[in-house]
Amino acid sequence: MIPPKPPARPDRVSLLRYLRLFRADILSAQPARLYRAWMAEFRTPFFRSFLCNDPALVRLVLQERPADFPKSDRIREGLAPLLGRSVFVTNGAEWERQRRIIDPAFEGGRLRGSFGAMWAAAEGAVARIVPGEVEVEAQASHAAADVIFRALFSIPIEDAVAQAVFSAFLAHQKTQPILNLAAFLRLPRWFPRLHRRRTLDTAREIRRLIEGLVADRDAAIAAGTAPADLATRIMTTADPVTGACFGPAEMVDQVAIFFLAGHETSASALAWALMLLALAPEWQERVAAEAAGALAGRPDFAMTGRLRLARDVFREALRLYPPVPMMVREAACPARFRGRDVAAGDQVVISPWHLHRNERLWQDPDAFDPARWSTEAGRAAARDAFLPFSAGPRVCPGAGFAMVEGPLLLAHLVRAFRFAPVAGREPVPVAHLTVRARDGIRLRVERRPIAPPGP
Ligand code: HEM
Repeated sequence: MIPPKPPARPDRVSLLRYLRLFRADILSAQPARLYRAWMAEFRTPFFRSFLCNDPALVRLVLQERPADFPKSDRIREGLAPLLGRSVFVTNGAEWERQRRIIDPAFEGGRLRGSFGAMWAAAEGAVARIVPGEVEVEAQASHAAADVIFRALFSIPIEDAVAQAVFSAFLAHQKTQPILNLAAFLRLPRWFPRLHRRRTLDTAREIRRLIEGLVADRDAAIAAGTAPADLATRIMTTADPVTGACFGPAEMVDQVAIFFLAGHETSASALAWALMLLALAPEWQERVAAEAAGALAGRPDFAMTGRLRLARDVFREALRLYPPVPMMVREAACPARFRGRDVAAGDQVVISPWHLHRNERLWQDPDAFDPARWSTEAGRAAARDAFLPFSAGPRVCPGAGFAMVEGPLLLAHLVRAFRFAPVAGREPVPVAHLTVRARDGIRLRVERRPIAPPGP
């Protein structure tokens, strides 16, 4: 089954047309040859950009010499109103210190501590869905926000502050598409674009709410009454090198990125996974049967290990619709890529979107085939060309968390409901902050009969 794929642009277009396409959607602004090429160079009057699909180059940029290809100041400036100097936008020693404090909170064994939050959010998501025609992106967004509020601050999405942050994020995202342009294109500084008034207003509102959450938590930690969740873990972890913890102001920056990176991405992948299962009813029945067995009984972290099919479907959703479709770096010093000179200041783009659908690296790259994850060819392709969470020292710290959360939510939803496509409503993927459907993902949802109790 070949699920929806955005159209590619013609090979040659004017800069103006490129900018227009880019602004509308960075995926359909790219030519089809990027699904085959190992590298592509784009020259414009303002900047030069190298898109790298060659696995050796991707390794060089992300894993072998990441310090030579940092995130650009422009990305930081574009995101600063919301994210300040969070770990997502910093480089060098500042970024290293932040990761030393954050990473331990997400280490393997610690995930168990967030399982209760994920389970409760999954039950909440099932309870919220009313059968009929349902826009599943909004449902997935609600569910993923619930997971992150519960895991970070032990509050459900129904909490008034959580509701307010969630609504402010939704409003913020509506003001945002233009950010792509600012972050990707090294346009001159006079180019009018960066912060619209609405973007600044919503960012300020989100940060004000988060400041309140962090201040309350600071007080609870001091009083010895704080719950053992992610926020407490991060706020009480001292940097092993300097001995200092995050101060409240720095924690606000980190919480902002956890909400943003942790909920938008997971929501996007979950919604696409539901859409894929709607288009592949035989897989959907298999996932439902697996979930009915694996999730029966008292909630227990070990259940997540039994959701093998749900995990392969979720991986396939991450491959076909990687929530972060492209990552941008800037060359800090001259380099040579496949015989071409890269100058300091040139832009380097790694595109999970193109890598995951590369015709030379994957068999049937555009096909939905969760079975590929148990074949040697599939695993080999994944080693070279599967980067939904990036790789190297800047790899997503929430990857392990997301790979427990995503299959668990998917399994809960498919155990409770049957999802089917709505005729004439095929979703069109577009990349804004993450890969979304242009007009949402509408599916027909019906409740499954309740499984009889086991023997
Ligand atoms: C399916 C879900 C997710 C996907 C696909 C995803 C993907 C990514 C990717 C590709 C990056 C690297 C971006 C770049 O370098 O430009 C990243 C970074 C990051 N992600 Fe995730 N993420 C997911 C879930 C989460 C969760 C659940 C959290 C936290 C609760 C999280 C927190 C972060 C943070 C803090 C960074 C910045 C790391 C750094 O720059 O050092 N992500 N994520």
